[in-house]
Amino acid sequence: MTDLHVSDAIRYVGADDTTITLFEGQYPVPNGVSYNSYVILDSKIAVMDTVDRRGTAAWLENLVSVLDGRKPDYLVIQHMEPDHAGSIGLLAEKYPEMTLVGNAKTFSMLPKFFPGDYTGRTLTVKEGDTLSLGTHTLTFVMAPMVHWPEVMVSYESSEKVLFSADGFGTFGANCCGQEWIAEARRYYFNIVGKYGAQVQALLKKASGLDIQTICPLHGPVLKSDLGYYLGKYDLWSRYEPEEDGVLIAYASIHGNTAKAAQKMREILAEQGCANISMRDLDRCDQAEAVADAFRYSRMVAMSSTYDGGLFPPMDHFMAHLRDKTYRNRRVALIENGSWAPSAAKHMRTYLEALKDITICPTVHTIQSAVKENDIDAMRTIAKELLEQ
Ligand SMILES: Cc1cc2nc3c(=O)[nH]c(=O)nc-3n(C[C@H](O)[C@H](O)[C@H](O)COP(=O)(O)O)c2cc1C
Ligand SMILES: [Fe+2]
Ligand SMILES: [Fe+2]
Repeated sequence: MTDLHVSDAIRYVGADDTTITLFEGQYPVPNGVSYNSYVILDSKIAVMDTVDRRGTAAWLENLVSVLDGRKPDYLVIQHMEPDHAGSIGLLAEKYPEMTLVGNAKTFSMLPKFFPGDYTGRTLTVKEGDTLSLGTHTLTFVMAPMVHWPEVMVSYESSEKVLFSADGFGTFGANCCGQEWIAEARRYYFNIVGKYGAQVQALLKKASGLDIQTICPLHGPVLKSDLGYYLGKYDLWSRYEPEEDGVLIAYASIHGNTAKAAQKMREILAEQGCANISMRDLDRCDQAEAVADAFRYSRMVAMSSTYDGGLFPPMDHFMAHLRDKTYRNRRVALIENGSWAPSAAKHMRTYLEALKDITICPTVHTIQSAVKENDIDAMRTIAKELLEQ
């Protein structure tokens, strides 16, 4: 169980969702997901974001218990995506005197989700504005496109807490207590990955703040070793590989390309590469494969040809890499085909549209089953791929 204690005055009231199968309709979450929400108790009370409608009941129970008969004065809306904003309408109805705090973009989006009348109940803030709750003071920092355009984060200066919206979040319900790194990486590259420049801009602003605790909207509260988490976000948002190593991503109709992928792994190991991840794109969670593509410095992409194009699992993978702006990596291409192989051409088209991708000069075609000449070619490709 993750420790979600922040302080006596700043309380976690979020909800775990352990029954959801796909987050955002596409990412498998075997350990569920958490919708975090916090309350700051002071002369004035602020609720920091609501939760997905799937978590409303549990969240309200937590909230009412922490409020202990008091009423919230403010609801700070850092992000309008339904996994956090889903219960705004209900909370606003329950506490008619509560003021909704957001920026101009928040309030242009609010009526699209909640067509109620909030006239006279909103406080519009901009970069650097503050909200005093008594001894606690929130400063708002705009973080456009650190997932959506209206995103902002909030810094509470008396306890040095950064409420970081989706930033530093992870998949996985807090009750499952899994390690931060793997699920934070999978979350980052699939949810936020396209917006490295905007994350860099936010990190720059955050570097001017003395932060002791990070309260994200998913996953654990981060209370120590913050340099580690900030360092990972810095690396990821600069599109730098985390590790020198190889992802072998393959898509095989009848198993021959899969066999070649296994062989490729042996060859890479023989040539001294010990850090290899294999992903069978037909069967794996493609979000894991995308995260690995960014984690490692090099990739081998291997695909069967299918109806004159790419076998769909590889096509999906390449489209994901394009959408998440994969870049700054070295890639080798191997195709398979029985009459008119063209998978490599299609993979190349995807990759050439991306920034700073070096494609190894030898692009090899396997003609159906793996033969001796294929192994020779894979040795050459491995050498090219592992070059510095
Ligand atoms: C539905 C289907 C469509 C295919 N389309 C092509 C094609 O357009 N061009 C080609 O050269 N091979 C085509 N193939 C053959 C496969 O690409 C080839 O047999 C395969 O790459 C062998 O490797 P595998 O066992 O890993 O699938 C097709 C195979 C299937 C089952
Ligand atoms: Fe989001
Ligand atoms: Fe989220």
